[in-house]
Amino acid sequence: MGTTALITGASSGLGVGFAHELARRGADLVLTARRLERLEDLAVDLAEKYGTVSTVIPLDLAEPGAIPELVRDLTERDIRVATLINNAGFGHFGTLVDAPGDRVHDQVAVNVAALTDLTHALLPGLQSAALAHPHGAALVNVASTAAFQPVPRLAVYAAAKAYVLSLTEALWYETRATGLKVTALCPGPTETEFYAVARRSPGGPRRLMSVDEVMAAAFAALDAPRTPPHVVAGTQNRITAWLAGSAPRRAVVTVTGRLSRR
Ligand SMILES: NC(=O)c1ccc[n+]([C@@H]2O[C@H](COP(=O)([O-])OP(=O)(O)OC[C@H]3O[C@@H](n4cnc5c(N)ncnc54)[C@H](OP(=O)(O)O)[C@@H]3O)[C@@H](O)[C@H]2O)c1
Repeated sequence: MGTTALITGASSGLGVGFAHELARRGADLVLTARRLERLEDLAVDLAEKYGTVSTVIPLDLAEPGAIPELVRDLTERDIRVATLINNAGFGHFGTLVDAPGDRVHDQVAVNVAALTDLTHALLPGLQSAALAHPHGAALVNVASTAAFQPVPRLAVYAAAKAYVLSLTEALWYETRATGLKVTALCPGPTETEFYAVARRSPGGPRRLMSVDEVMAAAFAALDAPRTPPHVVAGTQNRITAWLAGSAPRRAVVTVTGRLSRR
């Protein structure tokens, strides 16, 4: 309430879910992604529904210099971010040897580099906000259940999400005295544009989770007195994540390799 949250990847899927819940709770928003029209429509929708103020900043996070530009823009507008939702991300389905170079590069640029640079740039402000507004400041990095094991044919994506999980859990510890809520959100397959962008079908008979279900898991973790270092959305996903962490690596990668053939 009365603070500002920045959401990357706010033009679609989970980013839109975060925007609605944070606006409903009274936060002003900074919405960023490449598709300007979607962001502008969302800003109007949020203003009508919740009376919230949204600043729209179109940006390609794969471009070199995107994060310094974003941070400069925030400074010029005198926007102090109390909550950062590093949500923008995408995967590319297929073997590494067959993947176009720009898709390989951009997965690391968006999922890893931009997330790290933006977190580094905004973290001092998030920590100050946590001191000023106890329970009103948070850092959520969107990882994935892909973070818990290597995934052939989604190799770069899964490795990037393992990085996000590891980074976030370390930051959870580093910031524990500041009151900042830090967590890595690990959704499993969810009904968004992710699979269309990755150019594959979700595969298998599994039910996709809805954005609302994933948001319920994310905000339950944020609202808990002790926010956990990561949260896996959904019971079935929690079981598979646990199994992946417990079984021998060779067996795990063999299973994920077979499943990703579908
Ligand atoms: N859906 C799933 O099954 C699933 C499962 C686990 C984790 N996740 C993670 O959840 C997060 C959100 O994805 P989603 O499922 O909501 O998929 P989505 O509907 O495809 O949304 C992805 C968002 O990321 C933004 N984005 C992608 N590339 C970008 C770039 N170069 N610069 C700026 N923004 C960029 C997109 O905006 P523009 O295209 O407008 O730029 C869009 O707003 C991602 O980190 C994804 O890896 C998804």
